[in-house]
Amino acid sequence: MMRRRIEGPKTWLLTTRTSSYAMGIGPDGALRHLYWGAPLWRLEDLSAPAALTDISSFDPRQMLEKEEFPGWGGPRYYEPALKIAREDGNRDLVLRYASHRIQGDELDITLKDVNDPIEVTLHYRVYPDYGILSRSARVRNGTTRPFTIQSAQSAAWYLPPGDGYRLSYLSGRWAAEMQLNREPIHEGQKVIESRKGHTSHNFNPWFAVDTGDASEEHGRVWFGALAWSGNWRITVEQTPYRQVRVTGGMNSFDFAYRLNPSESLETPAFFAGFSAGGFGSASRALDRFTREKILPGGLSSRLRPVLYNSWEATTFHVDEAGQKALAEKASKLGVELFVMDDGWFGKRDDDHAGLGDWFVNPRKFPHGLKPLIDAVNRLNMDFGLWVEPEMVNADSDLYRAHPDWVIHFAGRPRSELRNQMILNLARNDVKEYIFGVLDKLATENNIRYFKWDMNRSFSEPGWPEAEPVDQQKLWVAYVRNLYEIIDRLRARHPKLEIESCSGGGGRVDLGMLQRVDEVWTSDNTEAFDRLRIQEGFSQAYPAKVMSAWVTDVPNMNSRSTPLSYRFLVAMQGALGIGANLNGWGESDFALATKMIAIYKRIRPTVQLGDPYRLLSPRTSDVTSDQYVSADGKQSAVFVFRHSQEYNTPAPTLYLRGLDRKATYKLESIDNKLVERQPALSGAYLMHAGLNVNLRGDFDSTLVILERAQ
Ligand code: GLA
Repeated sequence: MMRRRIEGPKTWLLTTRTSSYAMGIGPDGALRHLYWGAPLWRLEDLSAPAALTDISSFDPRQMLEKEEFPGWGGPRYYEPALKIAREDGNRDLVLRYASHRIQGDELDITLKDVNDPIEVTLHYRVYPDYGILSRSARVRNGTTRPFTIQSAQSAAWYLPPGDGYRLSYLSGRWAAEMQLNREPIHEGQKVIESRKGHTSHNFNPWFAVDTGDASEEHGRVWFGALAWSGNWRITVEQTPYRQVRVTGGMNSFDFAYRLNPSESLETPAFFAGFSAGGFGSASRALDRFTREKILPGGLSSRLRPVLYNSWEATTFHVDEAGQKALAEKASKLGVELFVMDDGWFGKRDDDHAGLGDWFVNPRKFPHGLKPLIDAVNRLNMDFGLWVEPEMVNADSDLYRAHPDWVIHFAGRPRSELRNQMILNLARNDVKEYIFGVLDKLATENNIRYFKWDMNRSFSEPGWPEAEPVDQQKLWVAYVRNLYEIIDRLRARHPKLEIESCSGGGGRVDLGMLQRVDEVWTSDNTEAFDRLRIQEGFSQAYPAKVMSAWVTDVPNMNSRSTPLSYRFLVAMQGALGIGANLNGWGESDFALATKMIAIYKRIRPTVQLGDPYRLLSPRTSDVTSDQYVSADGKQSAVFVFRHSQEYNTPAPTLYLRGLDRKATYKLESIDNKLVERQPALSGAYLMHAGLNVNLRGDFDSTLVILERAQ
């Protein structure tokens, strides 16, 4: 919902179910931030931005004025939203309101430099039912000379002035992604970013800022997530004037984007929201928004199927007979999608060769993929295939034919990681080639699903064929072309689904989620490690897109956990089986069949319901998560114990999101409920709580609640 006051000073008030956002034009014509927080309803309450005075010659008024989208120019020393360099060396940019346009839930405000026709159009879009606002910017060169953009952000966000704010963010590395950090914000900058060409495992483009005292269910939380899968940056900054501001968009590191006259550059969408109900309601808002407004198909996209993936069973040693045998075993378990991983193409017997040669290996599949796919389909499963389209091994026909197709600097070493180099998708010929390969595979075979992998970060990011002044455009053009390939592929093959994988969770962001159905969370499938990875993931992304496999033990850390524990951990996302079924015994098959059946019963609740984090693996020996179905009729409570000490019982679980007046039938999948009442009221479950008997190490359980009345 958008209200505006257009007579006299202009003020805009953007309101959603849970938040309002306001800005107005100052006496000098600059667009200034006015408010971000709980919903307001009266536009007249907002006064136009006031004229401020300098505190001293070292503390100019501009540092106090919360400019919505500050150019780097004049006496401004904080992180700018836009920085440019003109050909003649002039780099001053001071932006003033020029015009605006409101259309439905969208508002465009155009700013112009005080001297030159350099224009920035700020796009605002409210999603009133979701409590989400999106911002992005289009920079246009209306002059007659080119200029170079040195920093292009999507938005600058301002918190109410004050101290004591706290930042939450996700960091990590390969096999240890999405670790949740919470730390006080002090003066200076805290930067989370990627310089790796893809989203990266090291930081994820999501943030939350709270007043320092928020909990899962209480307190004020401002949050945001960037929809960009290349180099990105979020700068959280507290100025000397007690102002916390968050600026985010494309990474300004090594950024140079030349804009010719009448060309423009669009920055990625930065989605944001405000919650008065703590971190839990913040992530539930983002979760629902992502499922319904970001994912391809939105509300109508199907529940994620239970998949089997052959990687950990066969690694590169795939062949028709072996895959068929696995498929038969998988189908008996209740698997719905069978995915053949790496090793099916070119001379791919290990990770030294074959990437780039996307033709079926005739030794492993003498009759092509058809016999295997037919067999999988006959078993009532869809077929999925692993691809890594952006990569090439030096030992491949493609590289021998096109050594210039990889990202490189002329005459310099080309670093190989996992023996592979990256094809320069910024080049249109390379983009067309990759599209052609995937389109052919999807046209000639009944492929329902691509697991799209990307197993290394950028290095030597050169593009020698482009004009020297345009070579750094690679950072942007690569991502845009990647998006284009996926979008075209999906348009041509409407039933095709895609999983984004980058050595685990190296490419998880809302830009990717606008075009894929799920993401591979982490190459670390060790169930106890996963609890923290999943906790971090759940801050920013829905369970529905979180691929989670059950694999064999001992796993990472040489740790072994029981099969039931591994299942329950993975059942909190899009369940997959990645174990070597050839090594399983009868009791494993029996347990897996039972667990998959239980998963299917609670799948809509886990994938489409509201998640509540009851106990965190960061702070407790017991981890617990609860999911409540959208219609409130079912709830699933997962509980995990790391290691019991001194015979202490597990803590009481205070459930959430239930109807206090309703009663719920309780069902324990393994008889570990302490409560013996067959049903309990919502009030009792939320206030007196539920108790489970978890003993020893790595014990776990699942309690299913069905609303009785
Ligand atoms: C990456 C992926 C794995 C697997 C291998 C195949 O590591 O994350 O799941 O697909 O590549 O080479």
